[in-house]
Amino acid sequence: MTQRLDAKKIDQAAAILRAGGLVAFATETVYGLGADATDGEAVARIYEAKGRPSFNPLIVHVAGLAAAKEIAVFNDVADQLAAAFWPGPLTLILPLKPTSGLSSLVTAGLPNVAIRIPALQAARRLITATDRPIAAPSANPSGRVSATTADHVFAGLEGRIDAVIDFGPCEVGLESTILSVAGDITLAREGGLPLEAIEHCLGRPVSHATTPDKQISPGQMLSHYAPKSPIRLNATRANPHESFLGFGPTTDATLNLSPAGDLREAAANLFAHLHTLDALGKPIAVAPIPSIGLGAAINDRLTRAAA
Ligand code: TXA
Ligand code: MG
Repeated sequence: MTQRLDAKKIDQAAAILRAGGLVAFATETVYGLGADATDGEAVARIYEAKGRPSFNPLIVHVAGLAAAKEIAVFNDVADQLAAAFWPGPLTLILPLKPTSGLSSLVTAGLPNVAIRIPALQAARRLITATDRPIAAPSANPSGRVSATTADHVFAGLEGRIDAVIDFGPCEVGLESTILSVAGDITLAREGGLPLEAIEHCLGRPVSHATTPDKQISPGQMLSHYAPKSPIRLNATRANPHESFLGFGPTTDATLNLSPAGDLREAAANLFAHLHTLDALGKPIAVAPIPSIGLGAAINDRLTRAAA
């Protein structure tokens, strides 16, 4: 059952988020489907609710610059853009701090994080009341258009999320503009903040991330984290030189995605376990994962990692 919360019920919405639940809330751009970004299983539920067939990294929403700086490493350009456009419809991709505390599912194992401070005051109040960074993709089922009213969210996600807090219709109605500032400054997605405004602020032109090796955003992302070690899928056990990533009850796993065979737990552990095993410098054998529910996205990710 999905609760419809009136805009005043911020504390109730925050309590649901703190308990690992999913709450859709308006920002100035579109409604976001929020979860505690430090809670891997809560983040896994986002992918489950949206029916996303793959783990696209998610934008982290914070209420202020101090919180953003606990998560990402800012350079001069990032400081300049944040001063000019935050709070607002601009998402910055920046290097992730190792001490961020974010679930690795939020960044899909990438070394960079997408972060923004929404302009809608009610959204910032909700984040402040939750006292956690909030991971939130647009609050629509995968492959459908973004929601700009609470009714849109209900039409798409009723029964699959815990609550929608109705902050009214979104003013901008377009997703945020995404700019990568982690290396060369490139536009990863057009959105609510015009590129001209960014170029005017920086005093120079900004290129689109269009060549294949530069593509870094929406669905076009090819540069997902790829382990250095070879990966062998659907392995019932490891060969002597391999480490073994297990799923379900097994005694000989080096690490287990979920001893209980729970796909949500497995999703929450996926990237962190891959990183840990990759650091061992041995080929990785991976147990079969059923391709149902979140298992489809887990297998999509593992297949790419093995390619
Ligand atoms: O306006 C918005 O941006 C809305 C509201 C809710 O804030 N959010 C939104 O999220 O549009 P979503 O998930 O629908 O789109 C975010 C895009 C994804 O396509 C993803 O590829 C990209 O941002 N992204 C997120 N984290 C990234 C990262 N670490 N590196 C590169 N791209 C990233
Ligand atoms: Mg979206």
